[in-house]
Amino acid sequence: MILNKNYLNLQDSYLFVTIEQKVSAFQRTHPDARIIRLGIGDVTRPLAPAVVEAMKNAAAEMSAAKTFRGYRSDRGYEFLREAIGGYYAAKGVALDISEIFISDGAKSDAGNILDIFAAENRALIPDPVYPVYVDTNVMAGRDIFYLSGNESNGFLPLPDASQKADIIYLCSPNNPTGAVYDRAQLKNWVDYARENDAIILFDAAYEIFAGGANLPSSIYQIPGAEECAIEFCSFSKTAGFTGVRCGYTIVPLKLKRKVDGADIAVNDLWLRRQTTKFNGVSYITQRGAEAVFSQEGFRQVQENIAYYQENAKIIAAALTDLNIWFTGGEHSPYVWLKCPDDRPDKCPGDRSSWDFFDRLLTTAHVVGTPGAGFGASGEGYFRLSAFGERDDMIEAARRIKENINIW
Ligand code: MLT
Repeated sequence: MILNKNYLNLQDSYLFVTIEQKVSAFQRTHPDARIIRLGIGDVTRPLAPAVVEAMKNAAAEMSAAKTFRGYRSDRGYEFLREAIGGYYAAKGVALDISEIFISDGAKSDAGNILDIFAAENRALIPDPVYPVYVDTNVMAGRDIFYLSGNESNGFLPLPDASQKADIIYLCSPNNPTGAVYDRAQLKNWVDYARENDAIILFDAAYEIFAGGANLPSSIYQIPGAEECAIEFCSFSKTAGFTGVRCGYTIVPLKLKRKVDGADIAVNDLWLRRQTTKFNGVSYITQRGAEAVFSQEGFRQVQENIAYYQENAKIIAAALTDLNIWFTGGEHSPYVWLKCPDDRPDKCPGDRSSWDFFDRLLTTAHVVGTPGAGFGASGEGYFRLSAFGERDDMIEAARRIKENINIW
């Protein structure tokens, strides 16, 4: 028996687990510290009333023999896929509901999708980036090359024609930087993918933050993407499903690749994978997710998005007062800042982001996420999440301002 040695090439623990361990260790030695968590983006607001009502009704259905539901291991319930189809139609994207697969979240599917791709494929991953893309490819022993996102390209790297990629990861609005590709930039990626016969894995988990800004919130708003892209989306950030678990993956019927000369539909492979390894998301959860797209439910979740955007403004105002460089927070719940450094002869960004993490935790009792955790290009930067309650945001901003002098 041989273990998968690729796991030995990973960091000891997953980024957000490492952070949680550090925070718990600090809390143990400082039991009275009231720690404010702006690290992992899961301090979402409580579920919208329309969602809770739908879930209660669904739970009641599950209590009666006539309306009880068991496994649903294919693409998910039609009622939810139709609601998602309607949401996409409003964005100008026509989907067949057989292109939509309900999942337990974008994170799982972003990792699981690799099951249907050969190990020899070369993965292109922008850096800094959500660590799941890198870690899952390291686990598979896949060749990865990185494209640097930095201040000069607005953290929105564009394709490098001299490099051949097979699998391309894009996340827009971006985690961690909050940058959003515009239509022309996304078209560049779609063109590149088509020229290279590559498949784009488009993480749209934060799409609702791009709404109303005339920025693309789906890769399928770019013509031709239906032949070269898979899109992942989540109810976690949209509707606070972080602890409920529901998302969806779109695999267009037109997305095909040749195997031994024959056209193979990626949708068929994904269906085969899901029906074998996944037994679906609970009926109660899917009814709750459906309610997100009701008139009332959507109004309620949009109120929460506006609330997070207001939170981000509070963080941004504190950083502006402190003359700290930052970006993001506008079409994203994340503010991406340059670690300040007041040591003589040092520039902002010289301070390691883990060092900054420790200082922020131990002085201000505020948790953020070190940029280095998102890749080499994230070093010297830091992410603060705007998910959370308003009072905590105001208090975190106050503590950051108060403690800045001792950094
Ligand atoms: C984050 O903080 O980057 C996300 O909440 C992590 C996730 O969605 O898995």
